[in-house]
Amino acid sequence: MREHDVVVVGAGLAGMRAAIAAHEAGVDVALVTKLHPVRSHSGAAQGGINAALGNETDDNTDNHTFDTVKGADYIGDQDAIEILCQRAPLEVYQLEHWGAVFSRQEDSGKIAQRPFGGAGFPRTCFAADLTGLVILHTLYTVCVKYDIPTYEEWFVTDLVTDDNGNAVGVVAYDMIHGNIETIGAKAVVMATGGAGRVYRPSTNAHASTGDAMSLALRKGVPLKDMEFMQFHPTTLAANGVLVTEGARGEGGYLLNKDGERFMSKYAPNKLELASRDVVSRAEATEIQEGRGVDGCVLLDLRHLGRDRIMERLPQIRELAIAFAGTDPIDEPIPIRPGAHYHMGGVHVDNWGAAPHMPGLFAAGECSCVSVHGANRLGGNSLLEAVVFGARAGEASAAYAKDAPAPRVPSNAAEDTQDRLEALLARENGPRQGEIRDELAAVMQEKVGVFRADGPLREAKAKVDELKQKFEGVVVDDKGKTFNTDLIHTIETGYLLDLADCMVTGAIARHESRGAHSRTDFPDRDDDNWMKHTLAYLDEGDIRLDYSPVTMTKYEPQVRSY
Ligand code: FUM
Repeated sequence: MREHDVVVVGAGLAGMRAAIAAHEAGVDVALVTKLHPVRSHSGAAQGGINAALGNETDDNTDNHTFDTVKGADYIGDQDAIEILCQRAPLEVYQLEHWGAVFSRQEDSGKIAQRPFGGAGFPRTCFAADLTGLVILHTLYTVCVKYDIPTYEEWFVTDLVTDDNGNAVGVVAYDMIHGNIETIGAKAVVMATGGAGRVYRPSTNAHASTGDAMSLALRKGVPLKDMEFMQFHPTTLAANGVLVTEGARGEGGYLLNKDGERFMSKYAPNKLELASRDVVSRAEATEIQEGRGVDGCVLLDLRHLGRDRIMERLPQIRELAIAFAGTDPIDEPIPIRPGAHYHMGGVHVDNWGAAPHMPGLFAAGECSCVSVHGANRLGGNSLLEAVVFGARAGEASAAYAKDAPAPRVPSNAAEDTQDRLEALLARENGPRQGEIRDELAAVMQEKVGVFRADGPLREAKAKVDELKQKFEGVVVDDKGKTFNTDLIHTIETGYLLDLADCMVTGAIARHESRGAHSRTDFPDRDDDNWMKHTLAYLDEGDIRLDYSPVTMTKYEPQVRSY
C-alpha cells in the first residue's frame, strides 16, 4: 500500500492549490487524478477571477463581499464570503508571482479588470478569454517545481474510512497498469470539480461527473444545497460550449429576434450584466414567448470591433466560427442558457473540513462552503478554487501533523476488486450510455431554468427508474487497462446519486431563490427557506435535513439589478 500524509483527489485549480499549500506547510502530499492535471476542467474557464484590486476604480473587499452576498440571493454564508473576498487580492498576486500572465492595463501596466455580472465595479482579472487555462498551467509548474507526487490517470473508486469513521485514504483504478490500488493518508482532500454532466448540453467537460460528491455521500457525508444548479446565459446551441460572460463584460449586447436589447425589461440598471440567474431567466422567457431565433437569442459583439475582439475574446471568436458557423466580428452569435456550475457540494466548513467525517476535506466545485449560495457570480469560481483550495491544503496539513498513522482496512482494495469483477462478469443488460442519455434529457427538460412541482416529480420518478436500471448495467469492455467503458459506468452511477439529490432538494424547496426558480412558488420565502439543504443517502434513498445560514452584516433585501 502507498501512503502519504495528505492525499488530494483531483488536480484542477482547487486540487493543485491545496497540494501546494499542504507541501508548503511541510507535509508529504500527493495528487491523484483521473486526468493529466492540465486537462482538468478548470482549463475551460474563460472570463476571469474576481479580486477587489481597485486597479480600474476604488473598489474594495466590502463591495466584493456585498455583491457576492446579493448574488447568492442571501443564502451564502457571510463569514465564508468575507474570507473569500478578503483573501482574493493575495491569491491573485500570488498567482501573478508564480507566473500567471494576466492581461494588463495599457497605461499603468497593472492587472486589467473587466466588468462581470452582478458586480458593482470592474473586478474580474483575466488572461484574454483563457484565464482558467493560464492559471491551471501556472499551478502545474509549481507542483512540478515542488516535485509533488502525482498519480496521473488513477480513477478513485472509493473513499476509505477506518473503524471510527475517519477518512484514511482512497482506493483507485490505475488505468495504465490495470491495477486496483489503495493509497493511505492521514487526511483526504476532495477536489474533483462539478457534476455538470448530469445535464446535456453542458459547458462542462465529459469528466465533470461529481465523483467526490458521490464518494462522500455513499460514506454518510451530507451534500449541501444540491438543488441550486447554475445555467450560464451564453452557451452555444450545438454543443453547450461556453461563450464567456467576458463578452458582455467587454460590452456585448443581448438581442431578441426583433433586435431589441431585451434586458432593459428585466434588469434596467445592469442590463446584460445582471447576475446569471436573472439573465438566463430573461433569455428563457424571450425564447418561450416567441421572440427567440431558432431556440436562441443573439449575442452581438460587432460594435466592439475586430481589434477588441481579437485582443480580448480570441477564443470566443474561434469557438463561434467552429461550432456556430458565425464570425462575431461580422454577425451576432446565437446563444442560450446552458448548465454550467453546481452551487451545491460536499458539506464543509470554512476550512474545507467535513464536520461529519474527521480527516475529510473538500474544495472547489465539488464542495459547498457555502460562498455562492443560490447563485454564483461569474469570476468567483476560480477565486473560490484557489482561496478554499489553499485553506483546505493548510487545514489538512495541520490535521495530518497531529493525526496517527492511518488505520486502513486491509481488505479495502479487495472489496473494490470484487465489486468491479462482479460488474465486469455481467453479460447482458443496459449500457451506461443509454442510462446517461436518458438522465441528461430528463434533467435538461424538467430540472432547468424554470421548475415546478409536476415536472420535478416526473424527473424524480425517472431518476428512480434509471437507478433501478443501473443495477443491471453491463460493461462491454472486459479489459484491464484503460477501460473507459468501466470508468464511464462508475461515473454514471455517481451522476445518478447526484441527480437524485438535486431533484429531491428541488421538490422540497417551496420558493424561488437564485438559480432555483419555481413557477409555482415565484417568491423568495425568507421566513421558511432561509436555510441550507443537507442531503443524506439512507439505504438508497435521499433524506433531507436543513442547517442555518450564517449572517454577519448584510440583512436580506429585495434583489434587483
Ligand atoms: O463566463 C465565464 O467566463 C465563466 C466564468 C465563470 O463561470 O466564473
